[in-house]
Amino acid sequence: MMVKNIRLSVIWALALSVPMAWAAKPRSEPIQPIEPAKVTNPAKVELGKKLFFEPRLSMSGLISCNTCHNLSIGGTDNLRTSIGHKWKDGPVNAPTVFNSSLAVAQFWDGRAANLKEQAAGPIQADIEMNMPHTLAVAVLQSIPGYVAEFKKVYGKDKITIDMVTDAIAAFEETLVTPNSRFDRWLKGDDKALTKQELAGYKLFKDSGCVACHHGPAVGGTSFQKMGVLEPYASKSPVVGRAAVTGKDADRMNFKVPTLRMVEYTYPYFHDGAAATLEEAVDIMGRLQLGRKYSKEEIDSIVAFLKTLSGERPRLTLPLLPPSSNDTPRPDPFK
Ligand code: HEC
Ligand code: HEC
Repeated sequence: MMVKNIRLSVIWALALSVPMAWAAKPRSEPIQPIEPAKVTNPAKVELGKKLFFEPRLSMSGLISCNTCHNLSIGGTDNLRTSIGHKWKDGPVNAPTVFNSSLAVAQFWDGRAANLKEQAAGPIQADIEMNMPHTLAVAVLQSIPGYVAEFKKVYGKDKITIDMVTDAIAAFEETLVTPNSRFDRWLKGDDKALTKQELAGYKLFKDSGCVACHHGPAVGGTSFQKMGVLEPYASKSPVVGRAAVTGKDADRMNFKVPTLRMVEYTYPYFHDGAAATLEEAVDIMGRLQLGRKYSKEEIDSIVAFLKTLSGERPRLTLPLLPPSSNDTPRPDPFK
């Protein structure tokens, strides 16, 4: 009798576990879930975080990476195009730094191969932080708190710009946004999406948006023409990928942006000309696919896109060390 009961309960346990395992079966889709960041060197990430929030890396002493890539919102400045040193306006919209580690290359035209290479650009760009690298390093070297921290991470007394960009990149690699509702659905949770959101995803997939927007970042895997079937009229002077390759065929080719966190990263496109997600989806449908969506269709795609927002990293504000008497002082009007 006892033995039989045990057998029965084993059979019951098996019977119950099978449908549960089925329910949690990951779906095979053109979009894959974002995995949480694996931190191998926490001290380097912490140093990179400080540098990301460090306004003394700018000539004005006011602008940090976080000024234009605000991690409290969507990793962007939400301006049409970015404003930098002395209120100069740049030619393009700031892309999000969230999930940017997942992209094939950095910048709209892909001119930086990776995050480390990218981070060297904005510090010295006159329309961004306007700080020569030699001066940026001199500032850090004059701050005992930084000298000690660089020594801890890199084992050297002398700070280099290479270490600065390496640490910033290590921090940026942790800026992923896993566990969105869409990812929970991808992992097998049938209840994670509403009917409208699911219909929006089906439309996104079936009408061909996934040809360009796919992979874990829902973009970032290739350079594509903006205006495949209809030219895109823009006031921005930038030419896209052609600036890197010099090829005429690459004019108006841009890195396909990630659609992760897109709910937060308005306005849209390289020139920031589309104010709302509805507008961006309408333009994409017409210019890239030759398809005029109804309002209802646009609303469902937008509803789907909002399910791509994952968990933003919960950061504690980094505590930056004070300058010393020898630290070169900022010059906001230079
Ligand atoms: C004045 C505003 C501003 C500041 C300051 C700034 N950025 Fe940016 N960032 C931009 C803009 C605009 C772009 C797009 C430029 C382009 O593609 O030509 C960009 C692009 C990027 C990208 C590429 C993202 C992608 O998807 O291609 C990364 C990564 C990035 N910035 C990180 C940083 C870091 C790190 C710092 C600090 C060292 C920084 N930014 C400072 C405005 C800024
Ligand atoms: C042929 C490739 C291609 C197809 C198909 C495509 N896109 Fe895009 N998408 C792009 C490129 C390239 C950009 C950047 C264009 C620019 O900034 O000038 C972009 C930008 C976007 C943006 C703005 C993102 C941002 O951060 O600025 C959204 C939203 C978007 N696409 C949604 C869609 C939707 C929805 C569809 C289907 C209706 C779609 N895309 C189809 C290539 C494509």
